[in-house]
Amino acid sequence: MTQMTVNDRPVRFDMDAQTPLLWALRDAANLTGTKYGCGVGDCGACLVLIDGEALRSCLVTLAEAEGRFITTIEGLARDRSHPVQQALVAEQAIQCGFCTPGIAIAAAALIARNPDPSEADIKQAVPNLCRCGVYPRLVRAIQRAGRVARRRETISAAPAPGIDPADAAQAVPALRMLGEEE
Ligand code: FES
Ligand code: FES
Repeated sequence: MTQMTVNDRPVRFDMDAQTPLLWALRDAANLTGTKYGCGVGDCGACLVLIDGEALRSCLVTLAEAEGRFITTIEGLARDRSHPVQQALVAEQAIQCGFCTPGIAIAAAALIARNPDPSEADIKQAVPNLCRCGVYPRLVRAIQRAGRVARRRETISAAPAPGIDPADAAQAVPALRMLGEEE
């Protein structure tokens, strides 16, 4: 079993330590916002923050995630008020939405270290694949998110999510909160 912090909650996964983190998040923790696209590190749909760095969870094993702080799209901002989330909606940089969680995670990591990114910075830091082709809007959205982060402008928060991930994870046997009785 492996222990880590997921979206500010200490958790233990009773799974093989070589299981990809992506499977544990999606299939055990019910955190299905993180998407499975290619499974081989090419698309970026599975990005999560690991100790603040955007990493592909399909390539990270539970053993490698042991003791680390994981943030998925569900934990980025529970009311969807993160500047990247606000700007993606405001700039209509979402079509089918499959790539959006990974893009939001990559963009959030970029904005945290560089809130005034150039287009080249964005293309380098957010190389995610989008089959719908939202790329031009994406650049505008991420630069706008940077302005929001720098308090140069404000955007109204998007609607609150309908399902609390904590509730969604309640009945899943492979996920245990530390200190929780069997
Ligand atoms: S599913 Fe991980 S990079 Fe595509
Ligand atoms: S919005 Fe459809 S894959 Fe990017």
